[in-house]
Amino acid sequence: MEIITDIAPLRARLRHEASVAFVPTMGNLHAGHLSLVRIAQKHASCSVVSIFVNRLQFAPHEDFDRYPRTWSDDCRLLEEQGADIVFMPDEKTLYPVPQEFQLLLPPVADTLEGACRPGFFRGVTTVVLKLFNIVQPHVAVFGEKDYQQLQVVHRMVDQLNLPVEIIAGETVRDEDGLALSSRNNYLDATQRQEAGELAHHLKQIRDSIASGERDFPLLEQLVAEKLSKRGWVVDYVAVRQQHTLLPVAASDSSLVILGAAWLNQTRLIDNFLLTLP
Ligand code: PAJ
Repeated sequence: MEIITDIAPLRARLRHEASVAFVPTMGNLHAGHLSLVRIAQKHASCSVVSIFVNRLQFAPHEDFDRYPRTWSDDCRLLEEQGADIVFMPDEKTLYPVPQEFQLLLPPVADTLEGACRPGFFRGVTTVVLKLFNIVQPHVAVFGEKDYQQLQVVHRMVDQLNLPVEIIAGETVRDEDGLALSSRNNYLDATQRQEAGELAHHLKQIRDSIASGERDFPLLEQLVAEKLSKRGWVVDYVAVRQQHTLLPVAASDSSLVILGAAWLNQTRLIDNFLLTLP
């Protein structure tokens, strides 16, 4: 495995690869990230994983400074996983001048995470587009864990004709259902025990819909109330159409149940997909 920190040597190294599969990350890698790396390895002769904590996607009051940075552990895990290249640029490499150029985002970026975290998807798309231009992958792998991010990246690739195929990896969970996340590291033992309740309650909505319930606003409200009673501060619980993330119409059969909520100082997000017969 090679660790490359600059753009020119990365491009030189990749120039003669038959195919490149790319997994962008912010590091502090866990089994969810590694599952994406395994998907990448199946799709190309060369797998590239980037590790970059992207300041642009954090609001000033958010957790950029305390975001866990565990680069040597990350490199060890990637080496064990058999990744070919780790790209670890510093901020000066990716943002040598202030990043004035940004994209006008589609409506799918306005709702849910976009509404709770203004500027978040602008920061994500900016860095992902830059990384795509640097790595020039044939395939890029993103997790369903960040379902809206996956949809926003899909739109960017489609509408800007980027020559990359986006592949989605399923969410990897702990035994109690909690989706693996770097932010789980912020939880103390008691909070960690409680954290599984977000997935548990979103899954309850999925099961109610699967068994015929169609009052989506009621399901959303009940779960938001239950989580609030347990001490969570809920940003949203929402049943939406899978691809547009718009409210569900009677004819829709591809649904996603999404939630974002705070447990003390830690914000967790999760989602479950549901296809109606
Ligand atoms: P990060 O949170 O590090 O996630 C990197 C990738 O891993 C994303 O595609 C995310 O959806 C996926 N992932 C995270 N947890 C997962 C889990 N439990 N199971 C499966 N996949 C999981 O998402 C970002 O970084 C950044 O926004 C980035 C795209 C790198 C741009 O900075």
